[in-house]
Amino acid sequence: MNTTSLNTNKIDSSWNRFCDLLWHSDELGIWLDISKMKISNTDIKELEPNFKLAFKAIENLESGSIANIDESRQVGHYWLRNEKLAPSELIKNNLKKEKEKISEFSRKILNGSIHNEDNQPFKNVLWIGIGGSSLGPILLINSLKKNNIGLNFFFMDNVDPTGINDTIDLIKNELKRTLVVVVSKSGGTLEPRICMEQVRLKLENSGLKWNKQAIAITMKGSKLDNQAKNENWLERFDLPDWVGGRTSITSSVGLLPAALMGCDIDRFLEGASLMDTSTRNKELRDNPAALLAASWYVSGNAKGLKDMVILPYKDRLEVFSKYLQQLVMESLGKKNDRKGGIVNQGLSVYGNKGSTDQHAYIQQLRDGLDNFFAVFIEIIKDNHNLNINELMNPADYLSGFLQGTRKALTGANKESITISLVDLNEFSLGSLIALFERTVGLYAELINVNAYDQPGVEAGKIAAAEVIKKQDLIMNILTGDSEYDIANISEKLSKNSEEEIYWIIRSLSINNLIDIVEGNWSKPKSLKFKLK
Ligand code: PA5
Repeated sequence: MNTTSLNTNKIDSSWNRFCDLLWHSDELGIWLDISKMKISNTDIKELEPNFKLAFKAIENLESGSIANIDESRQVGHYWLRNEKLAPSELIKNNLKKEKEKISEFSRKILNGSIHNEDNQPFKNVLWIGIGGSSLGPILLINSLKKNNIGLNFFFMDNVDPTGINDTIDLIKNELKRTLVVVVSKSGGTLEPRICMEQVRLKLENSGLKWNKQAIAITMKGSKLDNQAKNENWLERFDLPDWVGGRTSITSSVGLLPAALMGCDIDRFLEGASLMDTSTRNKELRDNPAALLAASWYVSGNAKGLKDMVILPYKDRLEVFSKYLQQLVMESLGKKNDRKGGIVNQGLSVYGNKGSTDQHAYIQQLRDGLDNFFAVFIEIIKDNHNLNINELMNPADYLSGFLQGTRKALTGANKESITISLVDLNEFSLGSLIALFERTVGLYAELINVNAYDQPGVEAGKIAAAEVIKKQDLIMNILTGDSEYDIANISEKLSKNSEEEIYWIIRSLSINNLIDIVEGNWSKPKSLKFKLK
């Protein structure tokens, strides 16, 4: 296969090719159609040996090998939905116990036997976490939450003070009926800690007891776990070392919110587990994750040269593209391959929903740059209580728009994949997520990158901590009425970057902590400032 230029062949949209490549499972209620991609039968044949190795690697991972070599960790998200696979009796037992604990706790919250200090049942959940510790719960709530069933959810996944303020404002009258769930696998991430402190202050200033409402989800022995234990928080749930943030949706991170909103967590796990079984098939053509991974590989010439545009034709799946963005880009976006060679790999993901996007960027998809492939997601069952007698049925139109856009893209020789699900529910969402998890795992094997570490995320966390430290150092340097310029400060900070200091003093000035006494912002070297 040519790995330097993109394939300009015409898409074969024949009925025979559709029939030849279609994958379907009655049990799962899913169809996968890759026939509108440019992958050929020769590509599939050529990729078979690579997939043999990839299947073996995932098999090793599932049986407990240290698949995340850089972090010396096992990768066990597949055990979460099939504990029999777990490599030790201890893990098997812990998995069972944790699931029972989540079900029991949620049942008692929902029936009011665990209640607030005033004997009132809890009504809301404020979920504090970032990245893998919040995207799964956000996806679950958006996709499956039913009105008037279970608790209401609010999320805090950033340290934007306005965002924190707005969220607290939304629940301020019901704070005492709000469970606060703080989620951080490492237990040390700054963003959730800062949000937590703000919420705690608000809660305690309102005369409420933090530990009667706070729940932690974290690794055993982490800073957060120790704090929750020492302060006797309402409950603690385990996030094992071998679960990565972006694959934590079938762990306590996803199961607790699902149970608290009244979902059937067993059906969710069952959907994921059945898809795991289907994607363990060793025949490329009979394995939906392998078909997807092969299509991505050929489309982007093994280098991720084409973006993946996710187009679910369902409002409730609008955040699925955001969820996949993290799963795919944090897993595959790597500088080095596993031998240490520089590869700068990745696969860009974006999207919202159809048919809405038809009236936005789909213009470019059809007529502009050929730098993407679309993934249509169709929910076939038309579940609603709308009165459609004598009115146009929205479901017919939604389906028509999907087919129309798919046809228009094919007509313009633009690639697309279509995934059709009978319905959107706990079971099908579980299976859809598992399909993409295994696809990412297989694709990572094909391009030989570690899909389970995130050195870029860690580097960002360290760099941010350094800047925050510098803000304090600068404030400590400024004393009394003395005036300073950027060069002085840089000197005092052992020749620290002037640009970084400019950024910090601009923020200090606009937030009224220092005064500018001379100069202007467009001439950074002219600026003189002092403490307010
Ligand atoms: O997927 C990941 O590993 C990351 O997005 C993490 O979930 C994110 O950085 C939050 O980390 P933690 O859960 O340790 O606070």
